[in-house]
Amino acid sequence: MTEPTAYEPPEITRLPFIAFTKHATREVSAFSDLDQEVDASALVEQYGSPLFVISERRLRDDYRTFLEAFTDTHLETRVAYSIKTNYLPAVCSVLKDEGAWAEVVSGMEYELARALGFPASQMIFNGPHKTQEELERALGEGAVVNIDNFDELAQVEAIAAGLSAPVRIGIRISFRFGAIGWTKFGFNDDNGDSHKALERIALNPRLRLELLHNHCGTFVLIEELYAKSVERLIHLAKRARDLGLEPTMIDVGGGFPSSNTLRPEFDFQGGSRREGNFWFSYAEEICSRLQNARELFGGRPILVLEPGRAIVDASTQLLCTVVAEKAVDGQTPAVIVDAGVNLVPTACFYNHAMGRAAGPSGIQHGRHQAVDIYGPLCMQSDRLREQALLPPVEMGDILSISHVGAYCHSQSMQFIQTRPATVLLGPEGPELVRRRETWRDVFALDRLPERLRGDDCDF
Ligand SMILES: Cc1ncc(COP(=O)(O)O)c(C=O)c1O
Repeated sequence: MTEPTAYEPPEITRLPFIAFTKHATREVSAFSDLDQEVDASALVEQYGSPLFVISERRLRDDYRTFLEAFTDTHLETRVAYSIKTNYLPAVCSVLKDEGAWAEVVSGMEYELARALGFPASQMIFNGPHKTQEELERALGEGAVVNIDNFDELAQVEAIAAGLSAPVRIGIRISFRFGAIGWTKFGFNDDNGDSHKALERIALNPRLRLELLHNHCGTFVLIEELYAKSVERLIHLAKRARDLGLEPTMIDVGGGFPSSNTLRPEFDFQGGSRREGNFWFSYAEEICSRLQNARELFGGRPILVLEPGRAIVDASTQLLCTVVAEKAVDGQTPAVIVDAGVNLVPTACFYNHAMGRAAGPSGIQHGRHQAVDIYGPLCMQSDRLREQALLPPVEMGDILSISHVGAYCHSQSMQFIQTRPATVLLGPEGPELVRRRETWRDVFALDRLPERLRGDDCDF
């Protein structure tokens, strides 16, 4: 008989949601995203360094590839570009030209989209805070306002009471799925709030419920999450129909990944791969379910998608210049460049691909080495990449940072440094679409009281 051993309680560890995968490591790609001829030195000489460079062709291609993946004979597919991802007027206008609708989340974005010519009827107004004036304008002009909570519903009811035609609305829902919970937004679908909202809307003939919405996460690597999202929205549509409502649109939000490379701590173990038109696998989950439920949306559902990063990320590179080389901690090879997390805040999530684009060191065939890349800010955390594989570089060389089209312009900050120019590589060549900022631009809103002006003051 074996000796009994002491009982050891099992240890329960909560696994990260993305712990298991069959995918292999993804290699950091070299500088090759702008497949147009680009003379990085000439651009930097003309427009200064750093410099954002957008490929119009890549932007259009990525939009079309995304749309193609979700095109289905049984559905009417609409891409409502998520303006906050990159609200450069030139970028929004290229996408408008491609036929995109606009998804906005603030009065500022609403005004910009209208000024650029997006018709209100092709706009979705999301977000947890819309002012009274913003709601009045959007509802009055016929945009679809996606209601986020009961207080906003009350505001919309009051505005609708004063308008001559019923207003176009949607409701946004949230639900919890495993460890993932985008639960700050919309009516909770787990506790029945979404149903209560439907019941209230059904009693009010001034409200025309057209759209059911859920945005399930960001850089979602698991297609199944969209399947769950669509199933929830279909179930909601059934309940809406039972109450006499007639939704025609289902909106699965954004959150689709781009071809950017996540830092390992945010990725599948071993790294995820996104190649070819990888959006087809997302479309399959969404469209197949929707086809089967098309009667709930009037026979031919309008599928609204609100991609941001998926269509703009890969279009843009940032060119920057090496300003110093050093051995950090006395040993780790590092370079300092003139662009940092002020311009690439996404460096905390991505290992942006980097390469040497031009410069005095000339074409070198020396061994690539792993180099840490720091920005110019007086913050230890201003690091763009750890261990980027680069050929030998020296002061004055121009580096390219790839896939910076999403959330870099819109979240860039004027902390310590001004913001650079942006050039669009259009069919006729480079066009300046944002001029370089001066220090005076940064302080243009400031006022100095007369009594504080000294004799030497030039402000
Ligand atoms: C409601 C909504 N739609 C669309 C987007 C765009 O997301 P992404 O850039 O991840 O596609 C967001 C981003 O947070 C969002 O909150």
